[in-house]
Amino acid sequence: MKIVTICNPCMQDVVKNANLFDFRIDNAHITVALLDVVPTDFASLWTDDSVLVRVKAFSCNFRDRSLLHFFNESCIQFSGDRKYFYSPIGSEFMGEVLEVGSHVHSLKIGDRVMPNMAYPIRRDGKVGGVISNFASQRNQLFSEEQLIKVPDKMSDEEAAGFALTAQTAYSMVRKANLRGGENVLLTALSSNTSLAIMALLQSRHVNIYGASTKAADWAELLDNGELKQIFSFEDLKNKHLLEPRFDVVFDPFIDLYFPEVRLRLNHGAQYIYCGLYKQNPKYVSSTKTDETDLCSLYATCIIRNVSLIGNCLGTTSDLENAIADYVAGEFSVPIDSVFSGEDVLSFFQQTFLNKRKGKVIYKYAD
Ligand SMILES: NC(=O)c1ccc[n+]([C@@H]2O[C@H](COP(=O)([O-])OP(=O)(O)OC[C@H]3O[C@@H](n4cnc5c(N)ncnc54)[C@H](OP(=O)(O)O)[C@@H]3O)[C@@H](O)[C@H]2O)c1
Repeated sequence: MKIVTICNPCMQDVVKNANLFDFRIDNAHITVALLDVVPTDFASLWTDDSVLVRVKAFSCNFRDRSLLHFFNESCIQFSGDRKYFYSPIGSEFMGEVLEVGSHVHSLKIGDRVMPNMAYPIRRDGKVGGVISNFASQRNQLFSEEQLIKVPDKMSDEEAAGFALTAQTAYSMVRKANLRGGENVLLTALSSNTSLAIMALLQSRHVNIYGASTKAADWAELLDNGELKQIFSFEDLKNKHLLEPRFDVVFDPFIDLYFPEVRLRLNHGAQYIYCGLYKQNPKYVSSTKTDETDLCSLYATCIIRNVSLIGNCLGTTSDLENAIADYVAGEFSVPIDSVFSGEDVLSFFQQTFLNKRKGKVIYKYAD
């Protein structure tokens, strides 16, 4: 059974006809491949609550860039002396249920499923979160609360990039309690998180502004009315241009953007953030935040009555609302491209290096 992996180049010696590719990123050489491997046998881990899923398509998120380096280093470190390590990668997937335990009632064999990353606590009372760091692995074992059915209308490809992005976007927008009329800024506009929030905000009667390191590339969003204005990173640094002021900011990279955006916040603004740019020293040199005096950031919040609101993933209701809106034709997570077969290198390049608008999906042919 074919599986997209990171592996040690020495895998070439033992896997016949393996096509290994050299993926160059962040000054590292990472060997990626489509390997033919025996599916994992979960017999020893099986319980009455288990659900066995066969992954049909998967995708990566920003967090996977750190994991890519970590898994690569592990494959290099642990291979050798007749050991050949490989690692699956990815944090979102779509799959089909292959088998269910006798206590599982909401899912049956053949159901199409995607992750439910409810956080912090799932409906079964267990700690939730991202359910797999190895989304490309073909067979995976879950419990039913970690999965949710894919609606008939949603394609396999769309489902493989939906859950994490939609659940996070719906949670962040829910926390903003928008009433209409607010000036809303989306930073790192081309991130999947911000694109999903932008899609959701289209029906909320707010003024949407964007900030992007590639602002010039996104003029089309102004033309078709999805955005009022786009700022480049340099625009945000310009202390002579402080208008418009924002009531709500949705920010996937608070360490990059808060120091630049803070002087543009209205009194009582809500600053809702879900991530850090500095997740791995391998691909982040120093950023402005290093030099910024934290006390002056705190002072901005005090003087302007700004609420800093952290967000991690979302609730099951957030995901259910996203799915209901998808079915009603009111929301979708944009898809940039779909790869399959031996097109593994292009998949990683498009995911992590190239200009894209939306999720990059890998779909298995078997
Ligand atoms: N806590 C949670 O539950 C949760 C859930 C989802 C996402 N997140 C976080 O949200 C963030 C985005 O994740 P994602 O998967 O949506 O990201 P993504 O789709 O991989 O997008 C990354 C974006 O980062 C911006 N960027 C890249 N290099 C940059 C640089 N050198 N300087 C400034 N900006 C740069 C680019 O946007 P522009 O070119 O438009 O600037 C790029 O499109 C991450 O921090 C992630 O951990 C957190």
